[in-house]
Amino acid sequence: MKKTILVVEDDPGLQKALRWAFTDFEVVTAEDRNGAIAQLRRYKPQIVTLDLGLPPDPGSASEGLATLQEILALAPDTKVIVVTGNDDRENAVRAIGLGAWLFFQKPVDAELLGVIVERAYTLYELEEENRNLIRREIKEPMAGIIATSPQMLEVCRTIEKVAPTEATTLLLGESGTGKELLARALHDLSPRAKGRFVAINCAAIPDTLLESELFGYEKGAFTGAAKLTIGSIEYADGGTLFLDEVGDLPLPLQAKLLRFLQERVITRVGGRKEIPVDVRVVSATHQHLEKLIEEGGFREDLYYRIGEIAVRIPPIREREGEASVLASNFLKKEIEQQKKGSLTFSADAIQAIDSYDWPGNVRELANRVKRAVILTEGKQITAQGLELSVDNVESQPLNLREVREQAESSALLRALAHAGGNVTQAANLLGITRPTFYALSRKYKLDIGQTGT
Ligand SMILES: Nc1ncnc2c1ncn2[C@@H]1O[C@H](COP(=O)(O)OP(=O)(O)OP(=O)(O)O)[C@@H](O)[C@H]1O
Ligand SMILES: [Mg+2]
Repeated sequence: MKKTILVVEDDPGLQKALRWAFTDFEVVTAEDRNGAIAQLRRYKPQIVTLDLGLPPDPGSASEGLATLQEILALAPDTKVIVVTGNDDRENAVRAIGLGAWLFFQKPVDAELLGVIVERAYTLYELEEENRNLIRREIKEPMAGIIATSPQMLEVCRTIEKVAPTEATTLLLGESGTGKELLARALHDLSPRAKGRFVAINCAAIPDTLLESELFGYEKGAFTGAAKLTIGSIEYADGGTLFLDEVGDLPLPLQAKLLRFLQERVITRVGGRKEIPVDVRVVSATHQHLEKLIEEGGFREDLYYRIGEIAVRIPPIREREGEASVLASNFLKKEIEQQKKGSLTFSADAIQAIDSYDWPGNVRELANRVKRAVILTEGKQITAQGLELSVDNVESQPLNLREVREQAESSALLRALAHAGGNVTQAANLLGITRPTFYALSRKYKLDIGQTGT
């Protein structure tokens, strides 16, 4: 983060003097409100010094105070230091009331102001660090796992509780919901974290090879068995064995796995020796195991053995408000990885993300964002860029209403800031009447002050 200060000052002499006072900063300047807002958007300064007497009416503080409000509405974390005339305490106090960090009276002692600005920056940095910590805490309850919905936070809590135990754990969830990610998290939080995490995908290996993959084989066990080879179970000794797609395990191997879970010994293919192995077994499947049991495709006794604790991972469509959080995080990651400049989601993209069903869950979401980041040429990713349609947004009327209400209430506040608190002017800006403005303010419980003339 570059140290940047915006100096809003219409006196060219003073502007120059201040430029030299802030040697550690990149200094950008503006002479009036429009210039200040343009610079704010462009450079995102952490600190602003703001002369309250700005054109077109440098004799009064009204333009300065309006500028202050607009700055804080756009960038509420900015530390604004207000510079006032030497006997203008009243406006100085008003500025503090509006959210300025400090006021400073003319004539300006550049050296002293330099020290104050350094302090302001230190404070800004501390607060920013704090904001980041809070953000991270909320979004990443466990390392690398993004979760904000009550549904997923509950899953994370369960994983945390189960991790220190030796209980076999069964993760159930649709494809792409994060089963493998959570299995790894469980391992990392367990006393076996220093041991290996060995994943084997029962659906990806042909039945004929699966047995030797899992249990290993002795030299000469079958044609081509040139040397003794240990299997995944043995390889995971001291650590965690992750049986992915356990529902696809063929029945004969289910029996052999059951025996291992009961006796905690294995026999390699072609061997007779019983080898004790110490592993924690975590399994996952997207299949409906109970149904599979009914159909005779899965052993009921094994089901209970592998699922001492069963954790259901909800699909995205059941996680309240999480789709757009996941999307923003993947966007940030892709921008970093692909070294793209600033790139954001358009409003219709966010709406589409929140209303889409995500049958492929987190994996689909990550892929769509990645593809959009690669293909988008402008500064914004639209719903179309994500190859999502926007016409199904009506399927979530509640959500959409909230979006509308939020947009409306923030438009009211912005207009009011633009108009320096003048309700008639603010209503004009929005193309509505004063009574409508008041009615809407009441509806959204906005505090618009008593200055409505
Ligand atoms: N909550 C999450 N936060 C961040 N990344 C996630 C989250 N959930 C899943 N992912 C990412 O999404 C992708 C899919 O997750 P994972 O492979 O764990 O899902 P899965 O349930 O095992 O899927 P499948 O059933 O298709 O094997 C991975 O790249 C994973 O890192
Ligand atoms: Mg998986």
